[in-house]
Amino acid sequence: MPFGAGTRLCAGESMANLTMAFALATVLPRFELRPVPGSRPVREVCKGIMGASALPMTVHPIPAVKA
Ligand code: HEM
Repeated sequence: MPFGAGTRLCAGESMANLTMAFALATVLPRFELRPVPGSRPVREVCKGIMGASALPMTVHPIPAVKA
């Protein structure tokens, strides 16, 4: 529950989600994520809530396309 809940619910949740979506949409097309060779496939993991096991990735810039 990253934004809290109930009477303490974050007043900026919508703004934060919108800002994060814009930031990701701006940054992600410029990079490619590749799994580290030999890493295990992602599995479901239960630690109180369902989650995913780690997947180590490396980040590679995508060369800009010249207009
Ligand atoms: C990723 C970004 C954000 C996260 C993870 C976050 C998380 C939280 C959490 C967990 C609380 C509850 C704190 C508590 O229980 O005492 C909270 C409260 C609050 N947040 Fe955020 N927040 C974020 C962004 C923002 C933004 C962008 C704004 C305003 C523009 C904002 C305004 C507030 C306010 C005013 C409260 C108090 C709400 C109340 O008690 O009535 N937050 N936030």
